[in-house]
Amino acid sequence: MENLTETIKGRKSVRTFDGNPLSEQHKSAILRFATEISNPFDIPVEFEILDAESNNLSSPVLSGERNYAVGKVQKKPYADVAFGYSFEQLVLYAATLGIGTVWIGGTMKRELFESAAGLKDGEMMPCISPLGYPATKRSIKESMMRKGVGADSRLSGEKLFFDGAWGQNLLPDAELKEVLELVRWAPSAVNKQPWRIILKDGIFHFYEKKDKGFVNENVGDMQKVDLGIALCHFVLGYEEKGRQAKVSICDPGLEIPSDAQYLASVEIF
Ligand SMILES: Cc1cc2nc3c(=O)[nH]c(=O)nc-3n(C[C@H](O)[C@H](O)[C@H](O)COP(=O)(O)O)c2cc1C
Repeated sequence: MENLTETIKGRKSVRTFDGNPLSEQHKSAILRFATEISNPFDIPVEFEILDAESNNLSSPVLSGERNYAVGKVQKKPYADVAFGYSFEQLVLYAATLGIGTVWIGGTMKRELFESAAGLKDGEMMPCISPLGYPATKRSIKESMMRKGVGADSRLSGEKLFFDGAWGQNLLPDAELKEVLELVRWAPSAVNKQPWRIILKDGIFHFYEKKDKGFVNENVGDMQKVDLGIALCHFVLGYEEKGRQAKVSICDPGLEIPSDAQYLASVEIF
């Protein structure tokens, strides 16, 4: 993706749209891009663009949107992480085209979206996103929501990224610092930023710092979706610098708080 750093830093959720449908050109560009999306867990996500009006779809936090991107994934361990990783690539690509998006995992009539997407038994659809052109001004509702979750700020790196052990301050070199900024500015459900990373023996171990109320058996764990997004930013960030990232699931068994869970590790070459 061109200018990944700029795209990630420039992206903000869009909930207020100008009322126009997505152009046919943009629709086909997104669908073409979607066929090439993959994730390190080899759990495919199947994308579709739905029309709001003909499917009677809406969300109480959105206005002026005419289309939605939806994604379906087989229910299995790591499906939510894989979903986050893959769907975020679509979100970032849309941003490069000037198309607004916002991850929606809660504020929607889920059954309507699932039936419009033809969700089958054994599949799940953790989140959807509107796809459209941002209105010139945010609705009052949107501005209030952003304020409510502190959407324009993020936790400091000290609270998120550790050296050798949980809580131990990491002093990143210039390259790592840039990549960690991409993780820090990732979107997350209710802006909770549940990602934590411990760098140990040259390997980056990713953990989910769990809050209550984000897990639903049929929908997945929203904070694991967040982790997939963070992993995506980390891996693409290093790849943009010409490096290779190898993601594996190999718990080093480090000491972590009881509300944290190991998810994946990344080695950079
Ligand atoms: C997995 C996930 C689920 C989300 N679900 C919702 C939602 O249901 N409704 C909503 O308005 N925003 C939702 N968001 C958007 C977040 O609130 C938003 O990304 C966060 O506040 C940071 O703001 P930003 O995206 O503008 O940086 C979700 C984000 C993620 C990553």
